[in-house]
Amino acid sequence: MSRDVLIEILDLARWAPSGDNTQPWRFEIVADDRLAVHGYDTREHVLYDFDGHPSQMAHGALIETLRIAASGYQLVCEWRVRPGSPDNAPVYDIQLRSVPDLSVDPLLPYIEKRVVQRRPMRMTPLSAEQRNLLSLAPGSNYSVQVFENMTDRMRVARLLWDNAYIRLTCPEAYQVHRDIIEWGARFSHDRLPEEAIGVDPMTAKLMKWVMQSWSRVEFFNRYLLGTVVPRIQLDFIPALACAGHLLLKPRKPLNSLNDYVEAGMAMQRLWLTATSLGLHLQPEMTPVIFRWYARAGRKISANSEINTEIELVASRFEGLVGASNDQSFAFFCRVGQSTVPISRSLRKSLSELLNLN
Ligand SMILES: Cc1cc2nc3c(=O)[nH]c(=O)nc-3n(C[C@H](O)[C@H](O)[C@H](O)COP(=O)(O)O)c2cc1C
Repeated sequence: MSRDVLIEILDLARWAPSGDNTQPWRFEIVADDRLAVHGYDTREHVLYDFDGHPSQMAHGALIETLRIAASGYQLVCEWRVRPGSPDNAPVYDIQLRSVPDLSVDPLLPYIEKRVVQRRPMRMTPLSAEQRNLLSLAPGSNYSVQVFENMTDRMRVARLLWDNAYIRLTCPEAYQVHRDIIEWGARFSHDRLPEEAIGVDPMTAKLMKWVMQSWSRVEFFNRYLLGTVVPRIQLDFIPALACAGHLLLKPRKPLNSLNDYVEAGMAMQRLWLTATSLGLHLQPEMTPVIFRWYARAGRKISANSEINTEIELVASRFEGLVGASNDQSFAFFCRVGQSTVPISRSLRKSLSELLNLN
């Protein structure tokens, strides 16, 4: 196989999603049939990257996208974590092999079309066929629990409402939010563009001003009900304005790096399948991540009230799902029909991603 083919495969694979569009990977072309993906995570400075798991899920999404892209060239793709590479900087060795009669993965046309939709969607219910294909998409190691009727969506809306209060009042989370938004932008190569966040332009202006310092955020939250408008626009309304919410649950507990990478592969198949069905999707990962903290007995903040609230959200989430506290949750999202978002995250250029320095 030629280098041009490898370049084309990588060029498509870089459209895989990652938390806050961090793209925690660099590519290396090792030989004409071998690639290395140098993964990393952001756990040192991003509160949401609990033990690097969201980044590891993004690595999985990338490898799955690479596999789907390679099928377009009749190439199968085998991967393994390079022995001895550390969990916070795993190297994935990818071997490509030509199989002339390999069929092209039907998800291939949707790699570049898949996009996050954070704005309200239509409430048109899922058809039986859509529900069935979405539950089969992640494969037999996962089940998909669907929250669709008005009562369930209202319960999810309440969960997200409480969850967002933590997000917006936690000083450690503020540092992350401050750095990930590209203000005034419709497109962003390495962050979230302001227009894709899901608030109206006036609220965005206000958020930009308030978020310049933690003391402004605190003042606003304490005296001016600063969390109310963003919570209504970013959490409560979108939770109701969709076809439903999906929870991806692994049949075996998630423990190792490989488990999270495989969960990311399942997530990407689910997301691409939703796209192929004419649906949009938005991950709702913060309640999952906060529950990871709570169930690992780990503190998220120096503020003890916030740690207590995390415990409550974790229990409420389990109540909603009907799950015990040792059941693993991998991915939570909402889906629905909507127009294509006019604003989206783009990606770093391939030459930047191929630069290992
Ligand atoms: C593991 C993971 C967690 C994510 N969590 C959230 C989330 O909680 N809320 C959200 O709006 N988007 C979330 N996203 C979506 C990313 O922000 C988005 O995929 C990225 O910015 C790239 O944009 P695109 O998907 O439109 O290409 C998540 C994505 C991944 C892979």
